[in-house]
Amino acid sequence: QHQQLRDMFADDFYIGAAVTPFTIQKQEGLITHHFNSVTAENEMKFVSVHPTEDEYTFEKADKIMSFAKENNLNVRGHTLVWHNQTSDWIFENEDGSTPTRNQLLERMKSHINTVMGRYKGQIYAWDVVNEAISDQDGEFLRPSKWLDIIGEDFIAKAFEFAREADPNALLFYNDYNEVNPEKRDKIYKLVKSLLDQGVPIDGIGLQGHWNVYSPSIDLIREAIEKYASLDVKLHITELDISVFAHEDKRTDLKEPTEEMMTLQAERYKEIFQVFKDYRKHLTSVTFWGVADDYTWLDNFPVKGRKNWPFLFDENHSPKQSYQELTRLHDS
Ligand code: G3I
Repeated sequence: QHQQLRDMFADDFYIGAAVTPFTIQKQEGLITHHFNSVTAENEMKFVSVHPTEDEYTFEKADKIMSFAKENNLNVRGHTLVWHNQTSDWIFENEDGSTPTRNQLLERMKSHINTVMGRYKGQIYAWDVVNEAISDQDGEFLRPSKWLDIIGEDFIAKAFEFAREADPNALLFYNDYNEVNPEKRDKIYKLVKSLLDQGVPIDGIGLQGHWNVYSPSIDLIREAIEKYASLDVKLHITELDISVFAHEDKRTDLKEPTEEMMTLQAERYKEIFQVFKDYRKHLTSVTFWGVADDYTWLDNFPVKGRKNWPFLFDENHSPKQSYQELTRLHDS
């Protein structure tokens, strides 16, 4: 049996994976052997659990929760307030009118209460607000219906409702492009202002959708350093290392090249070394999947283009990337 990832990093942080009802069947062996934390990849999102105002659908989320319970896995919840995968009904009344600020706040509160309440005490950390910062230069918050209808304090309100719903859960702000200096500074500014206002927030989630070439290890370190200076918890929430450069849209590759696998292994090693250096703040590292037979990157940015971003290959064998991490552990 291969050495368990979760043991290799037992003194550092949890090792997590995003799962689905399909992958907990297909990749069960790997998940239960190597990981001590899971996140539902889609099944706890607004549209999945709350398709219409009076209807909650928790079957798939419950399935993931019972899998976690049976296998003693910690659970990170993902996600409560987002511009994407959110049911249309919440932003539009039956008569076609737009809800008022108070109406939308009531709906937000009731959603957060119901979802967090159902898993109270079982989900130790939640991505309360996801991806609210803009990627555009000179624009602070991303345009969204939440922002339009409620105003900038929709973020603070979400955290307040979340704290009430489960006072013991750790509450995170989660985002991508999080080590890009402009976006990093905006995320820092947002979280600092929430903390200054006394808003209940415990941590920052760095998604970690990176590739074998970028971002540079220096940018990764600088971002972690800057976020850690706020003295909040840091979680890496959605780690994957694409084998393609950002601008590379090739679709003809049937398997990864040796060069890609070597670069990826080097990257994983460098990145995990940085994570270890910050283990005082950085307490969880979650991959956005488990093994190369299933990844959302197979449909992004090019639909149907295979990618190989993880530590385990399509047959669930450990890759060079995994081997490098064992060396990091032994050194
Ligand atoms: O559920 C439907 C299914 O009924 C339908 O037949 C099928 C046909 O395409 O689509 C299914 O929905 C897909 C859903 O995943 C569930 O598989 C959507 O098309 C697809 O867009 C959706 O993608 C998810 C994506 O979030 C949506 O934005 C990815 O699986 C998921 O990995 C991804 O995760 C996000 C994080 O939540 C936030 N950070 C970025 C990350 C990657 O985009």
